[in-house]
Amino acid sequence: MSKTRYAFVGTGGRAISFLEPLVTTYAGTNELVALCDTSATRMAYYNGMLAGEWAYHPVPAYPADRFDALLRETKPDAVFVCTTDSAHAGYIVRALHAGCDVITEKPLTIDAEKCREILAAVAQSGRRLRVAFNYRWAPFRTKVKELLASGVIGQVKSVNLEYLLDTNHGADYFRRWHAHADESGTLLVHKSTHHFDLVNWWLDAIPQQVFAYGDLVFYGKQNALARGDGALTKYDRYTGTDCAADPFRLDLTESEPFRRLYLDAEKDSGYLRDRNVFRDDITIFDQMSLNVRYRTGQVLTYSLTCYSPREGMRVCFNGDRGRLEYHEFIGTHMNRAVRPKDFKLDVKPGAEAEGEWIRVFPHFQPSYVVPMPPQTGAHGGADEILNRSFYSPDAPATDPLGRFAGHEQGAASILVGIAGVKSIRENLPVNILDLVSLRPDATKLSELV
Ligand SMILES: NC(=O)c1ccc[n+]([C@@H]2O[C@H](COP(=O)([O-])OP(=O)(O)OC[C@H]3O[C@@H](n4cnc5c(N)ncnc54)[C@H](O)[C@@H]3O)[C@@H](O)[C@H]2O)c1
Repeated sequence: MSKTRYAFVGTGGRAISFLEPLVTTYAGTNELVALCDTSATRMAYYNGMLAGEWAYHPVPAYPADRFDALLRETKPDAVFVCTTDSAHAGYIVRALHAGCDVITEKPLTIDAEKCREILAAVAQSGRRLRVAFNYRWAPFRTKVKELLASGVIGQVKSVNLEYLLDTNHGADYFRRWHAHADESGTLLVHKSTHHFDLVNWWLDAIPQQVFAYGDLVFYGKQNALARGDGALTKYDRYTGTDCAADPFRLDLTESEPFRRLYLDAEKDSGYLRDRNVFRDDITIFDQMSLNVRYRTGQVLTYSLTCYSPREGMRVCFNGDRGRLEYHEFIGTHMNRAVRPKDFKLDVKPGAEAEGEWIRVFPHFQPSYVVPMPPQTGAHGGADEILNRSFYSPDAPATDPLGRFAGHEQGAASILVGIAGVKSIRENLPVNILDLVSLRPDATKLSELV
């Protein structure tokens, strides 16, 4: 059997999660044929891992402006896109037109125009495009899907989803490219695409209209000055400065992969991975809230807070036969560099890591916790299951829970965030069909590819 030939575009931090399994666990049926990135140093890091730790072999490394040559010369069957978000669309469209299938990291893209280009390229090329929505594959979230589909709370009428990012993980988005709306589409696209996709999939519904608010209230120089934290604004980046006591600091010399992937690569593109979160040029929000109405009538109330002391989510579904709550507070991303040596995660209800659980509250009956086995692995075990679905010839071609997300389902999720950003800027409700004509006749998400 011939192997499926993959090229990877974007060799930063995230690519490792998909690249390593491809050349180790799944190397029997798949082949890595090329890398592409704007940074030669980052590609050399990956080629070092390929030749060393992963016991594979180095592959040709193409600079970004030679991507078409990569397609011609290495003839991949599929391209895996792991670049910064704003660059996804260009690679997806070119790979599709060259006859390749594509897997892209979320978000599919960052604005409505690029979304229309991608949908047109899929239609013209007839190739397959999948979005790596790892959140769907985490066992607890899959269980929520099964429970709702079984009618355990009747028909779901409304959902409330609160997502908290803490002052380490949340802050990290403000240190790097995500802090610029033209590169990430704001966190309402970059981060919330996961959450909107989950709700679309859980409800099997297509979003119709969005109204949103968004503000920068914590990060950024002005907010630090207003709080009296002027000392935290003194440097533009953390590495190499006198910031040992700064709880927001990230020192790239303290981690070998960070040093080699980012510090050593600065000469290639000028990308700084450790910029001060209290600087001036941040163009995204750190606090967002919105309401969504679905084509099937349900409503979602959503909020994302990026400066919380704890991290996790709480989702509550209200049905006409009861209520289901899913809580996931599995830890704190408290900055390891400043964490006290005797720091221990407090694990009990109400503490920062109360764990992950699902509770069903039927009307007129006692509530109960849904039994679940303990979870291990990256992103709650989701990355492992997702990789198997991409690379294993034994993976089922269809999934009874509909966890494979194609281009239309990828679009349905980003369009909530894109409509949200437009709503924030214009202070008006936004109809998603006015942005992209996404199958106007369909009512359920499962009708979309
Ligand atoms: N699903 C998840 O849990 C998850 C987690 C992290 C990141 N991601 C996604 O993975 C992608 C990569 O994120 P990351 O954290 O690895 O970021 P990163 O900054 O570590 O890496 C991005 C890479 O893209 C490269 N790049 C930038 N512009 C490019 C261009 N025009 N052409 C080619 N290469 C270009 C950069 O040089 C860098 O190597 C993003 O789309 C992000 O949304 C997903």
